[in-house]
Amino acid sequence: MDSYFNLKNITTEELKNVDLDRVNVNCSPPDFEPQRQYYFMAKCRQIVASKRERLGRPLYACIQTFGCQMNARDSEKLSGILGQIGYVLTDSEEADFVLYNTCTVRDNANQRVYGRLGFLNSMKKKNPGKKIALCGCMMQEPTVVEKLKKSYRFVDLIFGTHNLYKFAELLCGMWEEKGMFIDIWEGTDKIVEDLPVERKYPFKSGVNIMFGCNNFCSYCIVPYVRGRERSRRAADILSEIQRLSNDGVKEVMLLGQNVNSYGKNLENALSFAQLLAEVEKVEGIERIRFMTSHPKDLSDELIAVMKGSQKICRHLHLPLQSGSTRILERMNRRYTKEQYLALAEKIRREIPDISLTTDIIVGFPGETAADVEETIDVIRKVGFDNAFTFIYSKRTGTPAAAMEDQVEEAVVREGFDRVLKAVQDTAKKQVARLMGQTLPVLVEEVGDRTDGQGGLLLCGRLSNNTLVHFPGHPSLVGKIVDVTLEECHGFYYTGRRAGAAAETGRLV
Ligand code: SAH
Ligand code: SF4
Ligand code: F3S
Repeated sequence: MDSYFNLKNITTEELKNVDLDRVNVNCSPPDFEPQRQYYFMAKCRQIVASKRERLGRPLYACIQTFGCQMNARDSEKLSGILGQIGYVLTDSEEADFVLYNTCTVRDNANQRVYGRLGFLNSMKKKNPGKKIALCGCMMQEPTVVEKLKKSYRFVDLIFGTHNLYKFAELLCGMWEEKGMFIDIWEGTDKIVEDLPVERKYPFKSGVNIMFGCNNFCSYCIVPYVRGRERSRRAADILSEIQRLSNDGVKEVMLLGQNVNSYGKNLENALSFAQLLAEVEKVEGIERIRFMTSHPKDLSDELIAVMKGSQKICRHLHLPLQSGSTRILERMNRRYTKEQYLALAEKIRREIPDISLTTDIIVGFPGETAADVEETIDVIRKVGFDNAFTFIYSKRTGTPAAAMEDQVEEAVVREGFDRVLKAVQDTAKKQVARLMGQTLPVLVEEVGDRTDGQGGLLLCGRLSNNTLVHFPGHPSLVGKIVDVTLEECHGFYYTGRRAGAAAETGRLV
C-alpha cells in the first residue's frame, strides 16, 4: 500500500493536484474539510471505474439547472465533482446519472420539476441502472420531500442547499444503501472552500461572495431555503478570482442575494465597495459584474467605486418589485417609491452611461389597479433597459401567503399585461440610445441565427449587458471585440465588427 497516501496528511494546497487514483480509501475518512470530500471522491472514482468496466463503456452524468445564477454556480461545483469521479458530462437526460438542481422561488419552477420527473421515471424503467438525484432550494421544503417520499419513490438521492459540498460523500451513501437516500440540513454556518469546479464557459464565471439572505421580503422563500447570510472571506474570493484569471476568465459575476450587505458577518470586514476595488486589481479580469443589489443598502461608496472603475460593467440590476409605497411596505422592502426614484436618479447622474434593469412582481396581496399604475409610473420615470416581470406566486410559510387579500387571477393578468407593455415601450427607447456607436462586446457564443446570407452570427454582450448579434468567425468566442451597433431590435442589437466592413461569419 506504499504508493497510496492518506489524505489526512495532505494540505489543502496540495489537494488541488492530488491524484485521486492514489488515495488510500481503506482507512477511515478524514474528519476535516475539504480533505474528507476528496477521500469520498477517490472512493466514488473506484465505484464508477468498476461500473465502467462492467458495462464496457463510459458512464454519463447530466445536471439540469432550474434556478438563478447561484443555482447555476452550484451546478458547476457539482459538475466539478462528477468530473473528478470519472463521469462524462452530457446534456442528455438519457445519462446514467441525472441530477436536477431545483428552484422554488415561484410555483411554476416546482411544477416543471414534477413534470419532468415522470419522464425520467419512464427512462429509468428502460435502464434500471440509472440513478436519479434531486438537490437545490426546492428540497429545503419539508412538504416537497414528503411528496417525493410518497409518490416519487424512484428518486435515489435527495439533498439540500447547505450540504452540497458533501456531494461525493452523499453519492457513496446512495450506492451503499438501498432505496431513497435523503440528507437535508436545516441550516449551516459553514463554508467549505477548495472543491473542484467545472465551468460552463471558459471565459466567464460566477463567483459566490455570500450565501443566504436575511431580508425576509414577505413574498420570498429564499431566506427559508438558503438560510442566513454568510459572507466568504475576501482573501478566499480574491484568490479564486486570481485562479480564474490565470485560467483564461475575463469576466466575473460576483454573486449574492444582497451583495450590498457583503461582509457584515465577517471580522475585519470589507464593505462590498471595498471588495469591488480589490477585485478591480486582479490582473487579467476585464469585466466585473454583480448580482443582486438591494436598493435599501446601495451606498454612495459603491456608486463612487463604480464611477471610477475601468472594469465594473455599466449595468446595475436594482430590483424594484413594486412602485407603490403601500405595497413595498407590505413586501417588507424597506424603501419607498420616492426613495427608489431618488436613488435611480443619483446613479444616473453619477454614471450617465449606466443601464438599469429590474425585477417586478404583479399581483402581490392587496395590490389594486392604482398600485399597478404607481409601478408603471416608476418604470416610465426610471427608464429601465429591461425588467423581469413576474406574477406573484404564493409560497407556503412566507408572511404574504397568509395575507387575506390575495388578488384574483384575472385582475393580476390584466395588471401584468399593462406592466409588460410599459416595460417593452420604455426598454425599446432606452436600449436604442446607443445606436450607431462602436463599443466593446464580449463574444459569448455562436448564435442560432444566420445573417441572412448563410453566414454565422455571433452573440455577445455590451458592458451594459445588452445583447449584440453580428457576423464573425467562431474563433472570436471569449474575446472582446469592437462592434458598431447598426440596428436595434427591442432588447438587442445587430451590428458589424468595427474595421471589418466586409466580414461575414462564413467558415470558408
Ligand atoms: N435577492 C434577489 C432576488 C432573488 S429572487 C433580490 O432581492 O433582488 C429573484 C426575483 O424573483 C425577485 O427579485 C422577485 O422579483 C421574484 N420573486 C421572488 N419571490 C417571488 C414570488 N413569491 N412570486 C413572484 N416573484 C417572486
Ligand atoms: Fe428574497 Fe428579498 Fe432576500 Fe431577495 S432580498 S432573496 S427578494 S428575501
Ligand atoms: Fe431559485 Fe433558490 Fe435561486 S429558490 S432563485 S434557485 S436561490
